[in-house]
Amino acid sequence: MIIQTIDYRKGAVKIIDQTLLPDEERIVRLTDVKEAAEAITCLRVRGAPAIGIAAAYAMLLAVEQLLKERLIGGPRYFFDRLDGARPVDAAGIGEIEIRETLVAARELISTTRPTAVNLFWALERMSSVAESAAPGPAALCARVAREAFAIHAEELEKEYAIGMNGARFVRSGMNILTHCNAGGLATAGYGTALGVIYTAVEGGAKIHVYVDETRPLLQGGRLTTWELKKRGIPHTLLCDGAAASLFSAGRIDAVIVGADRIAANGDTANKVGTFGLAVLCERFDRPLYVAAPWSTFDLGIPSGKAIPIEDRSADEVTSIAGKRIAPDGTAAYNPAFDVTPADMIAAIVTERCVIERPNLLKIKELTTA
Ligand code: MRU
Repeated sequence: MIIQTIDYRKGAVKIIDQTLLPDEERIVRLTDVKEAAEAITCLRVRGAPAIGIAAAYAMLLAVEQLLKERLIGGPRYFFDRLDGARPVDAAGIGEIEIRETLVAARELISTTRPTAVNLFWALERMSSVAESAAPGPAALCARVAREAFAIHAEELEKEYAIGMNGARFVRSGMNILTHCNAGGLATAGYGTALGVIYTAVEGGAKIHVYVDETRPLLQGGRLTTWELKKRGIPHTLLCDGAAASLFSAGRIDAVIVGADRIAANGDTANKVGTFGLAVLCERFDRPLYVAAPWSTFDLGIPSGKAIPIEDRSADEVTSIAGKRIAPDGTAAYNPAFDVTPADMIAAIVTERCVIERPNLLKIKELTTA
């Protein structure tokens, strides 16, 4: 079972608006690159791999918009994931104009969210295929469409591989704690951290998942519970502050989380609160596993200190679900992510391999092999 978190159909990016879950499962069609940027900024689409796919689709959408504006009387839409990259008669448009559109879209999307490197990775991949595309507007359009659809399809394949590689850490009877949402909603549809759990369960493991609610935006309480319920996996929701007492009672066997950016030495940025869980794992001698596609590594960054951490609005902390809970004017500290040092991570599970006790040398060896 996969969740169609994001798609590109009939000239529009389609997403499940995650700000409305679990109350409403609304599919929103984004037809303008500015709408796509807003959807990423406001977490309508969220989670590092899904943000990467959304970034690639936003660049394609910018080209779609240009074609629609300029080829009046042409087809109703130009690109569709299921039709693949069909030939586009873009003869009425200059290649330079298409390239300028792609550059502008890249600039806009790169301002949306700073931490998940998958966003920048996808933008870079789209730009570099545009640069090396065969001459002519039609070839350029076809090339960027093919790349966006490839990014989406490849991400899903990677998630299944991550699930297979990570399932070895999950045994029947385990109680696993997860933070935020690293499932189908955060990815191409299957998941990374939750993908590991899904693969283990599909293989017959009977496990119980503890779900941190994940303040301030409650991705655990609203989204992970929604996914686990759909799959019939037993789970219990807890306030983030209750995790320590669960560890202390011996009720957590392992923690599995996703990642937004992994530095060259293995330091990992993920949803704020992950580092606190790593400290608990150390205190209570439990493993913390990170599951993420290789595209989440940022090898240009030597350590977690250089990972840009998104600061979000104080309102997210002083309110819950739009209702203010603190006195007007209360100052709030709201980093969206924190960094877990590599030496607190038992293993990073990727689609290529599992890196146990990650460090600079091990990661370097893998990248040069
Ligand atoms: O702010 P969000 O909801 O985009 O944060 C998401 C996370 O921190 C996830 O754990 C991470 O992106 C991995 S998703 C597979």
